[in-house]
Amino acid sequence: MVKIAPSILSADFSKLPEQIDAINKSSADWIHLDIMDGNFVPNITFGPLVVKGVRKLSSLPLDVHLMIANPDDYIDDFYKAGADIITVHYETCTHLWRTLEYIKSLNIKAGVTLNPATPVNLLDPVLDLVDMVLIMSVEPGFGGQKFIPEMMEKAAYLHNKKIEKKLNFDIEIDGGIDPETAPLVVEKGVNILVAGSFVFKNNQIEQNIKSLRDSISGR
Ligand code: DX5
Ligand code: ZN
Repeated sequence: MVKIAPSILSADFSKLPEQIDAINKSSADWIHLDIMDGNFVPNITFGPLVVKGVRKLSSLPLDVHLMIANPDDYIDDFYKAGADIITVHYETCTHLWRTLEYIKSLNIKAGVTLNPATPVNLLDPVLDLVDMVLIMSVEPGFGGQKFIPEMMEKAAYLHNKKIEKKLNFDIEIDGGIDPETAPLVVEKGVNILVAGSFVFKNNQIEQNIKSLRDSISGR
C-alpha cells in the first residue's frame, strides 16, 4: 500500500498543534520533516527541538529529511528527538556507507536521497543497506516548486533494481506531488509520497490528503 507523508514545511507554524491534529485524523501514514541549514540548501527551517515537539503531538512515524552539511554531527540529536527514519543526502556524505550503518545501528530506518542532477546509479553500492531511497523531484530547499518529470526515470530504475536484486527498500518521492503527479510516480514504483504545499492548501488538510489518496485509489 502506498504511504502518504505530509511535509510540515508548508504548515502554518502558529497553528502547528491543530494542523498536526488534522494530519493525525487523516489517512496520512508518516510525517515528513524538512531540516534545512542555509548552507547545503539556501533556506533555514528548524532543528531537533521542533522534531521533539512534533513527536509529542503525533504517534505517526517521523520521517526526517536532512538537507544539512555534515549530517553525521546531528544524527544523534534527531534520533533523540524521536526520528523514526533519517534520510541523508548523497551530496553531503563523504563516507556514506558509514553514515547509513550508523543510522541503522540506532535501530531506526536509514534513507538516502539525491539532488535532481545527481545520477541515481551512484546509489547502487548502498541499495543493499538502505531502508529507503528518496528521489528529489525538485531542487531541495523550498516547497511549492514544479515537479521535474525526468525524475520518474529514477523511480523506474530503482524499481527494476529492487526486482533484479530482490531488495525491499522503499522508494519515496519529494517535490511537486499532487493528485496529478501522484499516479504517474506510483506507476513507476514509488510507494511513499511526500507532499507539502498540496496538503496544506487552503488549510483543508484532511480533505487534501483524501484527494491525494483518491488519485492513487487501489494502490
Ligand atoms: C523540499 C522539501 C520538500 C517540500 C515539498 O526541499 O524536501 O519536502 O516540502 O514541498 P511541495 O510538496 O510543496 O513540493
Ligand atoms: Zn523533504
